[in-house]
Amino acid sequence: MIDFSILIDAVYLVAVIFFILGLRAMSSPETARRGIVQAGGAMLAAVVVTFLTPGLAPSNFAWIAAGVFVGGGAGYVWAKKVQMTAMPQMVAVFNGMGGGAAGAIAAIELLSSMSDPASTGLSLAGAVIGSVSIAGSVIAFLKLQGWMRQRPLTFPGQLGVNLAVLALGVAFGVYAAVSQNAFFLGPFFLFTILYGILLALPIGGADMPVVISLFNALTGIAVALDGFALVNGPLGDAGYAMVVAGTLVGAAGSLLTILMARAMNRSLTNVLFSAFGAKEEEGASVQGSLKPIQPDDAAVMMAYAGSVIIAPGYGMAVAQAQGKVKELADLLEQRGVDVRFAIHPVAGRMPGHMNVLLAEAGVNYDKLFDRDEINGQFPQTDVVLVIGANDVVNPAAHRAGSPLQGMPILDVDQAKDVLVIKRGQGKGFAGIENDLFYKENCHMIYGDARDVVTKLVAALKRSSS
Ligand code: TAP
Repeated sequence: MIDFSILIDAVYLVAVIFFILGLRAMSSPETARRGIVQAGGAMLAAVVVTFLTPGLAPSNFAWIAAGVFVGGGAGYVWAKKVQMTAMPQMVAVFNGMGGGAAGAIAAIELLSSMSDPASTGLSLAGAVIGSVSIAGSVIAFLKLQGWMRQRPLTFPGQLGVNLAVLALGVAFGVYAAVSQNAFFLGPFFLFTILYGILLALPIGGADMPVVISLFNALTGIAVALDGFALVNGPLGDAGYAMVVAGTLVGAAGSLLTILMARAMNRSLTNVLFSAFGAKEEEGASVQGSLKPIQPDDAAVMMAYAGSVIIAPGYGMAVAQAQGKVKELADLLEQRGVDVRFAIHPVAGRMPGHMNVLLAEAGVNYDKLFDRDEINGQFPQTDVVLVIGANDVVNPAAHRAGSPLQGMPILDVDQAKDVLVIKRGQGKGFAGIENDLFYKENCHMIYGDARDVVTKLVAALKRSSS
């Protein structure tokens, strides 16, 4: 029989290099597409070459192929159909599946690693983390999909109950390994999955994207632990690939979690345990009144401005207004107006949400400015057009006692005039009143973002013809 070991190792090594290059390319919207193709292609090559592993029972091929076909097919169809705004919950489910698979592999390893306590420990950790990840990810999906109450669910003594459930799960896992009895894997999964559910319940909808990223990191760690446990077995080479791939996912997911938490000025413990959104701010009163304005008048303000900054948010994504927004920006530029976009890192519902939508609509990357780059420019700006953004432009973040206190925001209220497009008096994701809307220099253009921007475009076209 031909020994494919060297070929397999070589393909794994090349795949690992492409994982790293792909991940690096994903750090910029300009190269992200290439990065996804590189990392995805490398993963495909690693999976295909694993079929050549010596000693792999051919009778299992049909099962594996069926799994790849069903899972790959469902993933392909779902990813093709998903709306951009529903992306976080899709990521939650896909990531949860990874965690579940890692947990299941680790549990099987648990039953075959007794002679080696280190492998037992690694398998146990992988199985616990994997099942917590799938359970938490499913709750995240249900909350974001609106199939479950978004608000945090809390009860007295929650932390103690959670820890007791986790301890029970771990105890059953240890007993399954010691007794080599698969029966105890049942209660092991029951309690670790219950722990994952309990961990996610007190987390509010607004914090879910951060938690999804955390579960993603946990899945990576579970895969890496599985890899360590597999290294000494017949699938040892695949174990190395899993260690590298899992570590990369774990590291990237952890960094993303930290960056997102930081962009909201929250610590991870605060996200996990503070039940953000459970309580409203008490005693806060907003001064001033809401001042509506018609799209035609707003168009005139922008047409005669020297500079306009557009600040998009979740509402632009829901309304799919990005194409019209690009048209608006082009028309203003043709009139000699300096147009830029201010992108808050957590505007929308996932990292890079606004960048992806605007890039899709053909807006040049050099027109997009991060919060840090553009925040100092607002005082010299004539008009800021806020499109379906709320929390990320809420000056309440500067007010002591506000639930948003300390969240770095776009200081759009510093501009000479601010125009806000939104449908009505709906609050942002954090459920907090927005001080900006009541300021003297702020005017509201009520309506669906796409309809309003279409009217602004029409008004600008009329005025230049
Ligand atoms: P939000 O604060 O959610 O505000 C969106 C606003 O858009 C709402 O006030 C809503 O008001 C309006 N809107 C909804 N549909 C609309 C439509 N069709 N046309 C026009 N307006 C519409 O959005 P944001 O400012 O982008 O802030 C993002 C929030 O998500 C923050 O709280 C952030 O912390 C959270 N979050 C984001 C992330 C990432 S990574 N992006 C991660 C975790 C948490 P009306 O109902 O009155 O129209």
